[in-house]
Amino acid sequence: MQILQGKKILLGISGGIAAYKTPELVRRLKDQGADVRVVMTEGAKAFITPLTLQAVSANAVSDSLLDTQAELAMGHIELAKWADFILIAPATADLIAKITAGLANDLLTTLCLATAAPVAIAPAMNQQMWHNQATQDNIKTLTSRQYTIFGPGAGAQACGDIGLGRMLEVSELVELTCQKFANITEINHNVNKAKEQPLAGQKWLITAGPTREAIDPVRYISNHSSGKMGFAIASAAQSLGAEVTIISGPVNLTTPLHCEKIAVISALDMHQQALIHAPTSDVFVACAAVADYRIANVASEKIKKSKDSMQLNLIKNPDIVADVAALLNKPFTVGFAAETQDVEHYARDKLARKNLDMIAANNVAAEGQGFNSDDNALTVFTANDEKILPLTSKSELAKQLVQHIHQTQQHLLKKNESKGH
Ligand code: C5P
Repeated sequence: MQILQGKKILLGISGGIAAYKTPELVRRLKDQGADVRVVMTEGAKAFITPLTLQAVSANAVSDSLLDTQAELAMGHIELAKWADFILIAPATADLIAKITAGLANDLLTTLCLATAAPVAIAPAMNQQMWHNQATQDNIKTLTSRQYTIFGPGAGAQACGDIGLGRMLEVSELVELTCQKFANITEINHNVNKAKEQPLAGQKWLITAGPTREAIDPVRYISNHSSGKMGFAIASAAQSLGAEVTIISGPVNLTTPLHCEKIAVISALDMHQQALIHAPTSDVFVACAAVADYRIANVASEKIKKSKDSMQLNLIKNPDIVADVAALLNKPFTVGFAAETQDVEHYARDKLARKNLDMIAANNVAAEGQGFNSDDNALTVFTANDEKILPLTSKSELAKQLVQHIHQTQQHLLKKNESKGH
């Protein structure tokens, strides 16, 4: 593929002898696929004609700031916006000084001020002028303003001197322009990647599924949680760039790509794993339907059905999400509330009682949502606000929830930073 395919390059030519090389430069840039427009200073026209450059670029050449016809066709601001890249070759000492001073007294200097595109200059001048402190200071200033300096090269000069100050050869200028675009493409790619991966660098820890509380070696107490919601949250967080660990009770689900799964059975196992991993996590989402109670004395042998009735003695399991939220350096902690009535009241009560940053409440009594279903709806509460995520697939809902968690967490971080925490 041609590296400059479709790229809009504005070539600025100022009045140096090296201007005679610019028709070749235009042709070579066009060979790489670029659309080239030429802007000439008055001085440039003493060395090469606009007609030549118009012929090789196949575009009208602009040379005046005050030309009413030219402004009608493509005004100077439009031209500055049009360019993906401005290359000034040759750039004389005089032009470099004007750009550094921020002058806008001709079309080319005005474009340099008016553009948001990257600008590269290819200096061309006598070696003494190049080494002059004024020129060197100007180059330093332009470099600090993100201008790129192509060259200059060394060798015999038109004036007979030998040294630094020659404009780089056309092939070198084309090569450097291609490299510049490769860098711009890479930077844009990284920016886009960062936009698509807002959770890059974050660790998310998610509990999912049910827990099983053993009665004896063959029986247990559990619930209907499928783990689908937790796994969907894991997948959504991972696809936005997070490093995700799922602590999952027994489920029948494929672990989402690139997520780590720690398989556990009981609430005590899940509690232990959560407290190991939570201190190094940025976000903790407690999506598991943890059994509230476990059997006080698990029988070591299978219990025989000799009696007509039997009692199971239950003791309370530790509250995993509350214990994580009580950590000194707690991650942003999100709980779930599966309720059958008075959803907001119970959810807000849990938010406060368990010291959570957020709670996602669902009405498990409503038809077509909640446990085992593929769809769900949530109302998400923080201490100060409430957001409704309407009924949709668990995977879509998970994406919305993950975005909402991320935004709220970032907001909280900024608030804490500004408080000097
Ligand atoms: O109190 P309740 O069980 O309704 O709270 C639900 C929330 O608390 C869920 O986020 C659930 O994962 C979490 N939880 C927990 N450990 C428990 C009980 C619930 O982490 N033992």
